[in-house]
Amino acid sequence: MTTAELRQKYLDFFAARGHIIVPSSSLLPENDPTTLFTGSGMQPMIPYLLGETHPKGKRLADSQKCFRTQDIEEVGDNRHTTFFEMLGNWSLGDYFKREQLPWLFEFLTKELGIPRERLWVTCFEGDPAHNLPKDTESAKIWENLGFSKERILFYGSKNNWWSRAGEPEKMPSGEPGGPDSEVFYEFTQVQHDPKFGDKCHPNCDCGRFLEIANSVFMEYRKVADGFAPLPRKNVDFGGGLERMMAAVLDNPDIFRIDIFDPLRATLERVSRKKYGQSEEVNKAFRVIMDHLRAATFLIADGAHPSNKEQGYFTRRLMRRAIRYAHVLGIKDQFCEEVARSVVEAYRGAYPNLAESQGLIVEAMKKEEDKFRKTLIRGLKVFEGMVEHNSPRPPLNLRGGVISAKDAFDLYQSYGFPLEMTQELAREKGLAVDGEGFLEAQKQHQAISRQGVARKFHGGLADQSDKTIMGHTATHLLHAALRRVLGDHVKQSGSNITPERLRFDFTHPTAITKTELAEIEKLINAAIARDYPVSWQEMTVDEAYKKNVIGFFPERYDEVVKVYSIGDPDQAASADPQAPTFSQEICGGPHVARTGIIGQVRVAKEEALGVGLRRIKAVVEPGSFNSPVDIAPRRE
Ligand code: SER
Repeated sequence: MTTAELRQKYLDFFAARGHIIVPSSSLLPENDPTTLFTGSGMQPMIPYLLGETHPKGKRLADSQKCFRTQDIEEVGDNRHTTFFEMLGNWSLGDYFKREQLPWLFEFLTKELGIPRERLWVTCFEGDPAHNLPKDTESAKIWENLGFSKERILFYGSKNNWWSRAGEPEKMPSGEPGGPDSEVFYEFTQVQHDPKFGDKCHPNCDCGRFLEIANSVFMEYRKVADGFAPLPRKNVDFGGGLERMMAAVLDNPDIFRIDIFDPLRATLERVSRKKYGQSEEVNKAFRVIMDHLRAATFLIADGAHPSNKEQGYFTRRLMRRAIRYAHVLGIKDQFCEEVARSVVEAYRGAYPNLAESQGLIVEAMKKEEDKFRKTLIRGLKVFEGMVEHNSPRPPLNLRGGVISAKDAFDLYQSYGFPLEMTQELAREKGLAVDGEGFLEAQKQHQAISRQGVARKFHGGLADQSDKTIMGHTATHLLHAALRRVLGDHVKQSGSNITPERLRFDFTHPTAITKTELAEIEKLINAAIARDYPVSWQEMTVDEAYKKNVIGFFPERYDEVVKVYSIGDPDQAASADPQAPTFSQEICGGPHVARTGIIGQVRVAKEEALGVGLRRIKAVVEPGSFNSPVDIAPRRE
């Protein structure tokens, strides 16, 4: 069986049980400002798990591409990868435990032929602190499927509870979650490593056990004082495609599955080394295969290597791969060739890779070329720093730390991402002043930003009363657009003068007359309600957790100002009677009350480019006594 066949078998199995197969979403989430990447199959399903009706029905299945940034440094052993495919099936308020677990068991043992003696299962032990009961029902079902009690283990919230945010206390209000039941495959040929604890067990990290399947029973939503039931009980199943394949092969090395064959062959050719010849070579091969596979998919989905956001991860992946290629003695450009092998390996399942091949190759070539020029010199400079900073017995004069300045130099002059310097330093037994580095980076950014700030002032032409009113009206417009057209609407620019406001945003089609009328109506109703306006300071993370809108992450400092129109303690909602109309990251200033604004009239709506629209509106001033009050800070 090949990995492609396994994927197909899974989809066919669930299609035969009434599931509609949906395509994988992009690795870059489209309407989810809370996260940079799609890291699990359920992420694109959040609205439906929360209760919205899915247009395709109540039973869905897919194979979703995923990217998890937190695992970058772990890659190098035989099982960690940053990119993977997650096989998923969902019940949106349809079937539950009694169907899910037997189906899964049937799929693993009958369809894939995995011997049941190699499987162990885990269930939720309950969490009394959060009033969450033990999942005896799942355990019973496993028992009925023939699992002995010794093979059904109970774990607490750390292992057998699933939400995007993790354990119950880490979940923000509104987040869905639930107990889960996991299936592990045991590689009996792997000896337990006591480094990970006295006794081996399914959740031990030594590599003997591999989690291959996770059925989450999404039935709760976090609320202020605990958990409330979701409108419907859902199943969110996720199983790592590559891991299942490793179990089918009974080979604990994921990088031996067929998907990696063309990548490995390419690397063996360009490095003249053999995978398996030594631990050092294996590590380098794995890092390169994983990282360039991920980078290929990321670029195809739009994350070109850069210094910002998602692109920064593509850059980090590529640069780490290039450094390991250096370890293998690869002297020439090679990324492009590995990328071509990735495209080849996924030609059937992800034809978009082949379509974007030209683009991927070009982006990779550019990045590799840039970094190779400085890598060797940078490594020399780094060696000098090591020499300089190594603790010298008997007197440890310098403390064994690479200074912030040195780390920043490596970054600025040689393109070493901080994480790479940290990894190199670790190999030499040194630490890096990471905090100092971030501080230095911030100062550097602040200096370059000052120039930009002078040009923009947040899109305000001046600070006159009329312009400030126009600015608050722009927030009303932004919120109204998202309400009427949908959450895909994102501001891409604005410009406000005393005469008019101009607002650019993403939206695929022209806006109808009815929609425009509805937008105007919402804005003017918000003005009539005379909402108070105020601002608070919070970290960008806090703001995104509260669903505050803000689409210029590259411009934000760590702490931002959030302007609320309405009650700052209540999240903005689509209900026109809601206490809060809008919450947005913004530098200000704004008027203190919306009632001062008068009427807003949309004067023009036009296309600006593909998927980009522009609205011009005029603000007819209400009766106000100059100067208007400015929105105050609220602690
Ligand atoms: N959401 C669960 C996971 O990511 C199952 O899909 O493991």
